[in-house]
Amino acid sequence: MDNTDAYLLNFKGYYLIRSTANTDLLKNLEEFEVRHDDVFIITYPKSGTVWAQQILSLIYFEGHRNRTETVETLDRVPFLEHGVPKMEHQKRPSPRLFASHLPYYLAPKGLKNKKAKILYIYRNPKDVLISYFHFSNMMVMLEAPENIEYFMKKFLDGKVSGSLWFDHIRGWYEHRHDFNILFMMYEEMKKDLRSSVLKISSFLERQLNEEDVEAVVKQATFENMKFDPQANYEQILKHDLGRRTDEGSFLRKGTIGDWKHHLTVEQNERFDRIFQSKMKDLPLKFIWDLNEE
Ligand code: PPS
Repeated sequence: MDNTDAYLLNFKGYYLIRSTANTDLLKNLEEFEVRHDDVFIITYPKSGTVWAQQILSLIYFEGHRNRTETVETLDRVPFLEHGVPKMEHQKRPSPRLFASHLPYYLAPKGLKNKKAKILYIYRNPKDVLISYFHFSNMMVMLEAPENIEYFMKKFLDGKVSGSLWFDHIRGWYEHRHDFNILFMMYEEMKKDLRSSVLKISSFLERQLNEEDVEAVVKQATFENMKFDPQANYEQILKHDLGRRTDEGSFLRKGTIGDWKHHLTVEQNERFDRIFQSKMKDLPLKFIWDLNEE
């Protein structure tokens, strides 16, 4: 039986997690009032959203950088289209930081007018698939896939929250000139976090001194975030979203090429064929392996 609709909400052709979607906000999404100094992190799920939320929060909030304040990252950089945690975005002080998985065609008008900045992070889709498979098994709000084959079919049919990965990335990339957007690759952030932080802060016109850069980089490494209760989402996962099992963590492996430990040769070849046919005219670079340049 296809359980897609039990877990997902189809909003104008795009799938969101049903139990967390902010349906009041979605009613008026196009008109959502965007401010000049808003910043939006936009990603397909499992592509480095929480990592970017942590980096932006560290860049913008001195109290986060020097650890004098203990505010959850998700409170500093909440999702636009989801209601966990509950937020009245219009009452938030500027500059507001947001995260979102929305496709380009659902972006509020203000973003299409280049009013605010967008940081778009993308990751090689085989690692996205594997990360998503594990996450779906862990969380009650998502259908637990029987096995990778089952999930891979759903992923390649776009019957997951975020819809079809190929559509998400193509949509944002082909319409990039309509937005004030910086594309960053998860794998490049992984290979050189310091340069990535500098690139992001320069795009956001937030000058950081040497000491600040060090503090951001140090607190945004996988190893650090995994054990930082403010950054590892464990409380939110357990108490606000609901875990199916105590096994596994949101910050699972944080690496490049984990797909090699999960996909069979046949699954990998099938994925490659689909990737090549769908992406052949998109000039974005991808890194599939830790040792790749
Ligand atoms: S979500 O649910 O869409 O918000 O998930 P998202 O945050 O986009 O993606 C989760 C994956 O990102 C990894 N992650 C990191 N990798 C490297 N360095 C850092 N600092 C980092 N923080 C998060 C996280 O571990 C998930 O990937 P996997 O492969 O499952 O480990």
